[in-house]
Amino acid sequence: MMSGPDLENYSSSYSVNKPSGRPVTGQKRTLELEIFESEQSTLEAAATFVSDQVNNRQESVLLLPTGRTPLTLYTQLVSRSQADQLDLSRVTTFNLDEFYGIGADHPGSYHSYMRRCFFNQVPVAPQNINMLDGTTPDPVAECRSYDQKIEAAGGIDLAVLGIGANGHIGFNEPGSTQDSRTRLVVLQPETRASNAFLFDNQPAAVPPKALTVGIATILQAKRVLLLATGEIKAQAVYDMLNGPVTAGLPASFLRLHPSVSIMIDRNAAERINVMQRTI
Ligand code: F6R
Repeated sequence: MMSGPDLENYSSSYSVNKPSGRPVTGQKRTLELEIFESEQSTLEAAATFVSDQVNNRQESVLLLPTGRTPLTLYTQLVSRSQADQLDLSRVTTFNLDEFYGIGADHPGSYHSYMRRCFFNQVPVAPQNINMLDGTTPDPVAECRSYDQKIEAAGGIDLAVLGIGANGHIGFNEPGSTQDSRTRLVVLQPETRASNAFLFDNQPAAVPPKALTVGIATILQAKRVLLLATGEIKAQAVYDMLNGPVTAGLPASFLRLHPSVSIMIDRNAAERINVMQRTI
């Protein structure tokens, strides 16, 4: 017997890529969880997922993450684009978030990250790249206009998300509500610490505030792909799937979304694996 609710209660499909590579796929439902042997295979599968989305609809509108997790995703997408297996020339991109108070040219900014890891190496049209302006004097207007741009683009086709160890998505920290829109937020100390790698490993140098797309905007995306790797994410992933749907763990709101794919490595699945062994 399992302690706590099981995945079936969330009308989820549960498919596991076992170390042999042979997938064991459950009944087709709306929330799909795939567990991969390694970080590399997780991100390769994510790149295939994103490539399939773009190959099926070249004008796809993508909502994109930064951070450590998607680094290999971007490397993969770049090499597929350069090998002519992926045409990114007609996509429109929106990024999830940006630090507040630093400019696009600051080396720690997500603007810089995206140029370095992705945009400088792929033919996404510059006019189709959208990022929040961390130097705006009027964050409310900037955020409202970002939501309007997403709407004008026809909404997000695919939102690609990472997850914080505290369950945040985008920079929607615990306490963020289901109806939250793009806005200025205060970052938790652990979130600043996990971004220190962009600021010479100095957590105090990470801006204390950020602009982020809201939960409501994420939930309006047609499809969501959430990525998690490493043991540090295991508890958040477990709670996202098994705990209450609550602002206390913003990623849990994804269970309200009609089409979510979750790709994680075996380390991030550590707590789920314990649960599985009890089935
Ligand atoms: C970044 C973002 C964040 C990260 C999350 C995980 O754009 O939206 O939610 O996805 O903090 O970060 P990493 O991948 O560095 O563990």
